Amino acid sequence: MMGCTFFVKYLDINQKNHYLCANFFKKCPTPMKEITINGLTFEPYISSEEIAKQVERVAAQVKRDCVTESPIFVCVLKGAFMFAADLYRAIDMPGSEIAFIRYKSYSGTESTGQMNKILGLNDDVAGREVIIIEDIVDTGLTAQALRSDIEAMNPMSVKMATLLFKPASLKHGKVPEYVGFEIPPKFIIGYGLDLDEKVRGLKEIYVLKKED
Ligand code: IMP
Ligand code: MG
Repeated sequence: MMGCTFFVKYLDINQKNHYLCANFFKKCPTPMKEITINGLTFEPYISSEEIAKQVERVAAQVKRDCVTESPIFVCVLKGAFMFAADLYRAIDMPGSEIAFIRYKSYSGTESTGQMNKILGLNDDVAGREVIIIEDIVDTGLTAQALRSDIEAMNPMSVKMATLLFKPASLKHGKVPEYVGFEIPPKFIIGYGLDLDEKVRGLKEIYVLKKED
């Protein structure tokens, strides 16, 4: 396959010939390979290019629906940190704020059914438009707890933007207002999502491979 970096001949304003080593930011997809972590094998599922496309789409929807110029975005740590960083930059509203909260309900590859509130929200959200940023909504337990805790703080409104949503697993609360990808009830990792705190830094998303 042809490399991404190549030489381009062009004329500048003085009509002199120059050779420029240019990288046209052509998409050079890094080949995604299977990875094994903690004895489990994961296969490629969503590329970084597809993620970036959906982040842009969700950002445009969120921005379009905002009724005030100073919404507060609440990033749910740890899993949503990467999505929140990309989404928040794409939304690009100078009057907005970002805050952080940490709830935990997962251990290994399954929900424990219990909610651990590790870091609460200290920011004043009363009377404000709140948009919760989640990595993934699975059973909906975390999303429901987050919404009801924030609603108790008298905001103007509460909505949720999640990168991933497993509709078939939803048992609690409502469908998120903004969804990047709807996926089947499979365990995934990467782009912020972990397996026992590991692999959050992967640029792409991987799915747990079924045993043959
Ligand atoms: P829920 O409370 O069952 O909806 O689960 C939500 C939380 O569990 C998410 O915010 C994630 O932190 C974690 N989680 C759910 N599904 C997955 C997954 O497939 N991979 C990694 N973490 C997950
Ligand atoms: Mg989460």
